[in-house]
Amino acid sequence: MNNQVKLLAIESSCDDTSAAVLIDGQVKSNEVAGQLVHEKFGGVVPELASRAHQQHIVPVIDAALKIAGIGIEDLDAIAYTQGPGLMGSLLVGSSFAKGLALSRSIPLIPVHHMDAHVMAHFIDEPKPEFPFLCLVVSGGHTQLVRMDNVTSMDIIGKTRDDAAGEAFDKSAKLLGLPYPGGPLIDRYGKEGNPQRFQFSTSKMPEYDFSFSGLKTSILYFVQDEMKKDPDFIGNNLNDLCASIQETIVTYLIKNLKRAALDLGIKHIGIAGGVSANSRLRESVNELAKKQGWKAYIPDFQYCTDNAAMIGITGYYKYLAGQLGSIGDKPFAR
Ligand code: KG4
Ligand code: ZN
Repeated sequence: MNNQVKLLAIESSCDDTSAAVLIDGQVKSNEVAGQLVHEKFGGVVPELASRAHQQHIVPVIDAALKIAGIGIEDLDAIAYTQGPGLMGSLLVGSSFAKGLALSRSIPLIPVHHMDAHVMAHFIDEPKPEFPFLCLVVSGGHTQLVRMDNVTSMDIIGKTRDDAAGEAFDKSAKLLGLPYPGGPLIDRYGKEGNPQRFQFSTSKMPEYDFSFSGLKTSILYFVQDEMKKDPDFIGNNLNDLCASIQETIVTYLIKNLKRAALDLGIKHIGIAGGVSANSRLRESVNELAKKQGWKAYIPDFQYCTDNAAMIGITGYYKYLAGQLGSIGDKPFAR
């Protein structure tokens, strides 16, 4: 009993305050407090985000400890998101983690937010086999990551402009939907015809992505149609959402498939907020089935930002002796 590793993890990189407790790498609690305050601004307002983190962090950590049935005095280590993210938001979580670690004389483990999205696959069974190729799609990043073991991440492709989540959110904004629009495109898209409208995407060298052309293509198309029908969006919302979603998902899957074929990798997965998208989840399963590969898709609660993924990454770093120190600085990118 005494040899168990009891770890508290804190995530505060953007607009979710989250705390999780892991005992020997098993998630015992994973509490998340979101921030509705940004909805009316059409995007995350950094100053409002850090203030909301200040309000949420103590109750969220209290709840995570209580659900796990342990107290602060039981903790063996604290993992926190070091970056990338909004500086004011990161400072709330990292300062709290440092204060707690100092007061309890326990180790601190800084965690890279994007590594943690991939590591969400190592929370539950079945864990991916190596080599593993993961498409990481969030609000701030789009990457293809190759893993050959649990501590090595090799970025083999990335976006040259917007992230996939931004492509969803900015398209939604063009349709007049509130922030974050990704989940709304998913919801309305379920009722629409994904083949009704065609939008263009750009093929990038190597395994890179680009989404800025898509945004322009949607903007010009909608503006043209609105000259004929001023309520074009309202009259075609479901088909527009389904078609935009289909374009983004097809583009992502095409690149994932090409990289996996080139590299001879048979274990593929998706991670990050956009991996909550129902069409992307379906498509990666279809791809794996067709190719005779295995697809790994995280549980919904581990797709969008959460502290459990920070905890599992911290746990493996703890086992590898990769500890941090009080002087580690948060980084925005
Ligand atoms: O990973 P995440 O929670 O935060 C970042 O690290 O950025 O990702 C947030 C992104 C947002 O752009 C949001 O619109 C998108 O994930 N997202 C979705 C869905 N759920 C979240 N996009 C499409 N369909 C969804 N169901
Ligand atoms: Zn994230």
